[in-house]
Formats: sequence, C-alpha cells, structure tokens
Amino acid sequence: MTDERKPRHLAIILDGNGRWARRRNLPRLMGHRAGLRKLENMVRLVKREGIRYFSVYAFSTENWNRPSMEVAGLMSLFRYYIRRKVDEIKAEGARIRFCGRNDRLPPDLLQQMRWAEDYTKDEKILDFILCINYGGRAEILDAVNSIIAEHPDKPITEQDLRSHFYLPDVPDPDLIIRTSGELRLSNFWLWESAYSEYYFTDIHWPDFDENELRRALDDFAGRERRYGGLKK
Ligand code: FPP
Repeated sequence: MTDERKPRHLAIILDGNGRWARRRNLPRLMGHRAGLRKLENMVRLVKREGIRYFSVYAFSTENWNRPSMEVAGLMSLFRYYIRRKVDEIKAEGARIRFCGRNDRLPPDLLQQMRWAEDYTKDEKILDFILCINYGGRAEILDAVNSIIAEHPDKPITEQDLRSHFYLPDVPDPDLIIRTSGELRLSNFWLWESAYSEYYFTDIHWPDFDENELRRALDDFAGRERRYGGLKK
C-alpha cells in the first residue's frame, strides 16, 4: 500500500547559493560548493524518509547564460561530485540518473555521467536524479520532435509524449520544494508538475537542513490532492 501523505517523488529547485555566498562576502562558487555539501547530506535524509525518487534542478538550459567562470566552476563541481561521491551514493542503495539535454555539456563530463549511471544502475532503494542542462520546454520539444520523426502523420497522445521524455519511467513529482524565496518554477518539470504540490521557503539552499525538510514533508502530509476531481 502506498502512503499518500509521503511524496513518492520529491523534487527540489536548489536556489540561493549565490545569495548565501554574497551575504558572507564569498565568491558565488563558494555558495555552490556549500550547496553541494548540503545535497550530499540530503540524499541520506531523503532515503531515510523512504522517498523513492529524489530529483534536483542543478543546472538549467538557461544557466549557460551565466558568466563563463561560474559555468566552468559548476561543471567542475559536477565532475568532482561524480568522481568522489558515487561510491557513497551506491553504498546508500541509490541509483544516479541524469536528466536533460546532452548538447553543450563537456564530453568528459558526459562520459563520467554515463559511467556513473551504469555503475549504479542496479541500486533500487532510491533514484537520485540530477537535472543538468535540463529545461521543461526543451524536454517537451525534444519529445515532440522524436515522435514526429518516428510517426510523421499520427496525432500525438499524452502517452506518446510521456514515453519520449528523458526519464519515461519516473513518476511525476508529488512535491516540489523551492528554496530562497522565489515563487516560480523556472522551467523545471513543466509537463510533469501539472498536479504537483509546491512548497516555498525563504531559506537559501546551503542552509536547508533536516528540520526544513521535515517542515516541508509535514506540510505536504496535510495537503488534500484532488487531481481535478471532487473532495473525498
Ligand atoms: C541556484 O542558485 C543554484 C544553481 C544554479 C546551481 C545549483 C548547484 C549546486 C547546488 C551544486 C550541485 C552539484 C551537483 C553535483 C548537483 P543561484 O546561483 O541562482 O543563487 P542566487 O539566486 O542566490 O544567485
């Protein structure tokens, strides 16, 4: 039996690393580093909560517009994470998956990403999904274009779209948390969030801790989800 008060798929928009760093007079990249440390711990906490899918928005298709130093720094952080942390993730029983477009990512990073996915593919306790070079609009367009290429004359159904998304087997997010005070989705899980619940907090991502997670999950547990239907 599934427990509806607990999200099966928890998604987090990791926002506020830059502001966290600025407040401390540190370079932005230090904020991203602090954000990465927080994420490492969060994987353990999320697993402990019995959540089956955990996705994070780490780099959007629009983030390429940031200064090249910051983009390069983030790519290095992703490399570091895969090289140094995959064994810990695997030991937790978590499978790493990447979600997004392949274009523009450095070839060595892409290779590492494919390796990490393969290395952890048999882990079944948690799917940890890193959305890197991800955009919801890009995902929908990519799906539509590949369907048209396969069946140029057939009307497209919802099922067609879903089966052509980057990770077709991953269920829609039940709860999407956004840190750092902005009240928007910023092109994350656009199609998949049709019936997601949202939780916004002013806390910057590097300060988001176990208590904050608890608060978000307790809040979710009290929501009534109707999916367009009537009150039970
Ligand atoms: C948004 O904060 C954060 C990002 C664009 C990067 C998030 C990346 C990490 C936490 C590192 C994750 C590493 C892995 C391996 C997934 P911001 O820079 O937009 O903050 P601001 O809005 O305060 O400027």
